[in-house]
Order: sequence, then structure tokens, then C-alpha cells
Amino acid sequence: MKIALFDSKPYDYSSFNAAIAESGDEIKFFDTKLGVDTAGLAEGCDAVCVFVNDEVNKEVIDRLYSLGVKILALRCAGYNNVDLNAAYKKIHVVHVPAYSPYAVAEHAMAMLLTSIRRIHKAYNRTREFNFSLNGLTGTELHGKTVGIVGTGKIGRIFADICRGFGMKIIAYDKFPIENAGIEYVTIDEIWERSDFISFHCPLTEETTHIFGAEAIEKAKKGVVIVNTSRGALIDAEALLKGIKDRKIGAACLDVYEEEGDIFFRDFSGHIVGDDVIARLISMPNVLITSHQAFLTEEALKNIAETTIQNLKDIEKEGFCENELCYNCGSIERCKKERRKKCF
Ligand code: NAI
Repeated sequence: MKIALFDSKPYDYSSFNAAIAESGDEIKFFDTKLGVDTAGLAEGCDAVCVFVNDEVNKEVIDRLYSLGVKILALRCAGYNNVDLNAAYKKIHVVHVPAYSPYAVAEHAMAMLLTSIRRIHKAYNRTREFNFSLNGLTGTELHGKTVGIVGTGKIGRIFADICRGFGMKIIAYDKFPIENAGIEYVTIDEIWERSDFISFHCPLTEETTHIFGAEAIEKAKKGVVIVNTSRGALIDAEALLKGIKDRKIGAACLDVYEEEGDIFFRDFSGHIVGDDVIARLISMPNVLITSHQAFLTEEALKNIAETTIQNLKDIEKEGFCENELCYNCGSIERCKKERRKKCF
């Protein structure tokens, strides 16, 4: 099998090369993202492998289809960047549903702790031999309420971690899990009752800007927001206003609405044209990492191995457990239909 891997980074080379070792498969690594202008690079390939910021719209799907590409393999869990409807009956779309939910949940807690205990500020200070504690007063998690939006794989692990800190957990999920030992509440209650809010739901039409001006209005003064899911869950301009109004206590963002043209690239020494992210970064209570939550040794290995297995399953069996489809025509096989969660 010949695979065109777009938006590749040095850490992808070793994990994917190890996953295809001795298989006879071939991977062409392209630094560029997949888009209408770059789809032609996949000529002669059976499969295309993409990441979170490759825009796979109808035009791209049609171009890949005309080139004979049979499978689109997402090396990530989220698939909001793919037009599944356009891919239906043309290209199989597979993803990696759970490469390491622990990586993301642990990163969410790492960001929260860093922010509320000012670890990032202390690190910078002591490197300059400044041992003053002024301005480093933190907040404790114990006994506080955390609101979790989305209690899937990552959200539930994050809940377990929070439980370990002695926090009170409330959650909102469109499809609550029975007997999960979680107190489900309405989304408004999440905004009204939470001291900390962490997002772990997918980006859909319904969840786009789920945290915007209206939610901020309802939120507790000083609420700390953690987003390791998808940037557009949060209206970044409304968040900025909430921070300037002193309503938001702190924001920990691993994802950003307009991250596509910014994240994963080195802009040091350059002017970043996006005023919203520039202003967010300038705030003392905003902590940003650039879509790093997944990046662990364990996750990279799982991503590469699952992606290659997904491709082999489709090639050999014509079916893969991790296939995503608008309507695969086989309700027996479609996990989403069975769980009545089809899009
Ligand atoms: P999952 O599919 O196991 O869980 C998602 C949960 O969200 C489900 O329980 C689902 O019922 C719920 N949900 C669906 N629609 C909802 C709505 N309208 N309102 C509230 N809840 C809703 O997914 P998983 O593995 O827990 O991942 C969660 C998200 O984390 C992914 O969608 C992805 O965007 C993000 N992610 C981020 C990574 C990073 O590196 N920052 C890496 C991996 C995933």
C-alpha cells in the first residue's frame, strides 16, 4: 500500500516508519497540509493520512477520489475537518478513536494546575534567580466544583483525576452514561455552578461556540476554563472580553478556534497577524499550548499502529471497526447507529 501522509512532523516519521517496518508498505511524508492545491500530491497513492488541521472538504474528497485514493485515514480522534457526507460511497474514512485518552486528560489537569499554582511564572522567575513569591498566590482544587462538558473516554478519565483531588464533579453530556457515578446537570448549571470548566465534547454545529457571551454571563466570577478539545467550542473574542471584564479567572487553552494557520509552526521572530490570539497570549491569566495534549510517546505509537491497522482492515476486509461514515448502509456494523448517535 502507498500512503501519502500530510502535515507530517519529525515525530511522525519514526512512529509511522516503525509501524510499517517489514510490511512492504510505503509512506510519502509531506510537510504541507492537505487541501485543494496539494491533493494532487496523493497521485499514485491508495490512501491519504491527515491530522486535525487538514481541511478535507467536498472539493478535496472529489479530487482524491478522481486520483483513485480509496481510504482517508485520520491520525486523530476528532473528524470535524472532514466532510463525511461528501466521502460517502467514495472514500472510506477511518480514525483513531482512542490512542491515549490519558494523554489528553492528564494534559488538561497539568494545564489547570500550572495555571492556578502559577508554576509557569515561578519557572521563569527562578531561572532569573528571582525567588520572590509576590503575585504567586494560588487556588486549591480540593472541595471545588469542576464542570465537565462531554463525558466520553477523555472526559471520564479527567473526572477520575479530579476525584483524586477531592473535587465535586458535575457534568453535561448530550448522551449521558447511565450508572457512571457522575452527577449530570443541564449546561446552564455547568456555567452557574462550576469553579472550573473543562471541555471534552466533539466540535459539532451544536457545540460550536457553546461557551460564548451568554455562557460567560451565567458563569461564576473567577471561573477557570480548560479547553483541550476543539478551539471553536469557545468563542475566543467573547472569552477575551470575559477576561478583560475580570469575569474569567483564567483560561488554559490547548486548542484555538483559528489554530489551523498558527499551531504546529514556529513564528518566533515573526509578527503573528491574528490579533485575538496575540491579545490572549498577552494576558497574565491565559496559558496556551499548541494542540499538544495528545503528544506522548505512548500516544504516538498507538496512533501509528492503529492507523496502519485501519488501512489494512479496509484493504483486506473492506470493513474496519474505526470507520466513520455518513451512512455505511450496514446498521449491523455501524457502532454509531447501534448507539443511536449517528450524525
Ligand atoms: P468521545 O467520543 O469518547 O467522547 C465525546 C463525548 O462528548 C461523548 O460522551 C458524547 O456523547 C459527548 N457529546 C457529543 N455531543 C455533545 C454535545 N452536543 N454536548 C455535550 N456532549 C456531547 O471522545 P473523546 O475521545 O473523549 O475525545 C473528546 C474530544 O477531545 C474529541 O472530540 C477531540 O476533539 C478532542 N481531542 C483533543 C486532543 C488534543 O490533542 N488536544 C486529542 C484527542 C482528542
